Amino acid sequence: MISIIAAVSEDFGIGKNNDLLWHIPEDLKRFKKLTIGKTVIMGRRTWDSLPRRPLPGRNNVVLTDIQDEVIDNAVTAYSIEDALNKCGGSEEVFIIGGGSIYHQFMPLADRLYITHVHCKLPADVFFPEIDLKKWKIVRKEKSVSHSDDVIPYTYVVYKRKR
Ligand SMILES: NC(=O)c1ccc[n+]([C@@H]2O[C@H](COP(=O)([O-])OP(=O)(O)OC[C@H]3O[C@@H](n4cnc5c(N)ncnc54)[C@H](OP(=O)(O)O)[C@@H]3O)[C@@H](O)[C@H]2O)c1
Repeated sequence: MISIIAAVSEDFGIGKNNDLLWHIPEDLKRFKKLTIGKTVIMGRRTWDSLPRRPLPGRNNVVLTDIQDEVIDNAVTAYSIEDALNKCGGSEEVFIIGGGSIYHQFMPLADRLYITHVHCKLPADVFFPEIDLKKWKIVRKEKSVSHSDDVIPYTYVVYKRKR
């Protein structure tokens, strides 16, 4: 099963200057809980942006177009197909970004775990459109934190309609 996991703004922005747009600790905890023990596939720019790499406890697969490149401490993949072949038999594979990778995996994904962050912030990378003719919502949870530091969000799980 191919799952996409992302946090998106109201206008589907996901990043700026190769960084995230926000820091939401609760969402990072959920990200860890969902992905631990699994394979995560990411683009080289997202890999470069990680504060700590590889993501511990996960099989990190990193995509690059540079054919001779070998990325230290990760499994290097050179195409979408190659990345999927290097998942080591994981039942659920998580696509963790960034923008170019989400766009390419969207037609292949079975499930989307999307944190809809209720803000609009300047961004230079965007998540693809989620077409509700193709996706049905199977779970929806509003954030419960009452702290002013936390931007409100709604966590939504989408399943592809068959
Ligand atoms: N909000 C979120 O949930 C979230 C999650 C993750 C990332 N982000 C944000 O997204 C932004 C990064 O996204 P991005 O689109 O700029 O970069 P990206 O998707 O992370 O990485 C792009 C790179 O991946 C490689 N690549 C892409 N498609 C490939 C293919 N088919 N075959 C082989 N290699 C391929 C290329 O690497 P080479 O250049 O090495 O060839 C390409 O330059 C950052 O701002 C990051 O913070 C947000």
